[in-house]
Amino acid sequence: MDHVKGLKCMICGAEYAPDEILYVCPKHGDEGIVDVMYDYDKIRRRLTREKLAQDRTPSIWRYFDLLPLHDRENLPPLQVGWTPLYKADRLAGQLGLRHLWVKDDGRNPTASLKDRASAVGVAKALELGRDVITAASTGNAASSVAGLAASVGIKTYIFVPKTAPEAKIAQLLIFGANVIAINGTYDEAFDLCLKASAEYGWYSRNTAYNPYLSEGKKTAALEICEQLHWQAPDRIFVSVGDGCIIGGLWKGLRDLYALGFIEKMPKLMGVQAEGSAVLYNAWRKGTEEIEPIVPNTLADSISVGIPRDRIKALRAVRDTGGEFITVSDEEILDAMRVLARGAAVFGEPAGVTSLAGLRKMVREGRIDPEERIVVLITGNGLKDVASAIKATGRPHIIDPTMEDLRRLVAAIG
Ligand SMILES: Cc1ncc(COP(=O)(O)O)c(C=O)c1O
Ligand SMILES: [Zn+2]
Repeated sequence: MDHVKGLKCMICGAEYAPDEILYVCPKHGDEGIVDVMYDYDKIRRRLTREKLAQDRTPSIWRYFDLLPLHDRENLPPLQVGWTPLYKADRLAGQLGLRHLWVKDDGRNPTASLKDRASAVGVAKALELGRDVITAASTGNAASSVAGLAASVGIKTYIFVPKTAPEAKIAQLLIFGANVIAINGTYDEAFDLCLKASAEYGWYSRNTAYNPYLSEGKKTAALEICEQLHWQAPDRIFVSVGDGCIIGGLWKGLRDLYALGFIEKMPKLMGVQAEGSAVLYNAWRKGTEEIEPIVPNTLADSISVGIPRDRIKALRAVRDTGGEFITVSDEEILDAMRVLARGAAVFGEPAGVTSLAGLRKMVREGRIDPEERIVVLITGNGLKDVASAIKATGRPHIIDPTMEDLRRLVAAIG
């Protein structure tokens, strides 16, 4: 791992050797999230755009030289990443845009972007010789780490709010996780999980605590730029809860910029639900301090009252000249329908919140039709069928006769 220079605290700037600390900067309790620093000169000698063009690896491991791992021996076998980036012309037309792409990260093995982080987290656990992983999650990170851990035979203890959608809990159970459903919120599950990790010595895959997760998530940005032949888009829209995904995208873009693979940084557009807009509020106030809330949104994956990756998320938006945007639950449900019908991608509520944010900005006349825009869809709609039904209503029910059918077809038109 000679391409990793060390770990740098996002709060105080202290630097540590890669194996000096396991998780956070010890000076700030559980809060001192660190960033992995790379030696780009070394990486530039190993990884080039030309080399990537020859590489047929259809997964995040095509970027192995940009990941904080020792060797390829411990990589989980599931196919994570290299998800499709669709040119969504019909949807673009409806929005009055000319260059719109939809990246469908619901196509990952456990059907969310979180697999990118879990793959790196599980590889790290194997490197460290750990055989138990723990995580707290609104649902997707949990089902993801359970799946990735099952692929290499590692045991998991997973903390989720008991209100997580049933499909996500079913995923956990079927992958054989020890599922601990909390009578409480995600934020409470998170704190309990950290305590459990300290008490039992389980390897923690907790957002903004384990520094390697954003490194996994950054591969979505690497892919977007490679799939656009290194012509970085003008904006990338992404939904935001804890802020780890948007922080990861920022890291991937900084990597590519430092390597000279892209010539400009896209603006990162963080979309939050109105009922869970802690980072939006902090951004509006121009501060990195947050005011915790009790969140209330049907987009369960971004229902977060204490965003753990606040620093990376706020800097991602500020540094790239992006913005935070909020959308209502109604706009999120609308976006589910619009995306499925306009681009045939079925996203869960938090998965399509990105599109809801773009639609709002278009309505407000704040997007130039010539801009090149990517909307990242972070989770598959089958994970939360109840919300899809809310977005669409029920099917027509008739008796199996032509008479009933004719009456119905006449009525539907
Ligand atoms: C589908 C989906 N979208 C978006 C997010 C938000 O990611 P983050 O919490 O890193 O901001 C999550 C996190 O759980 C998610 O599962
Ligand atoms: Zn520090």
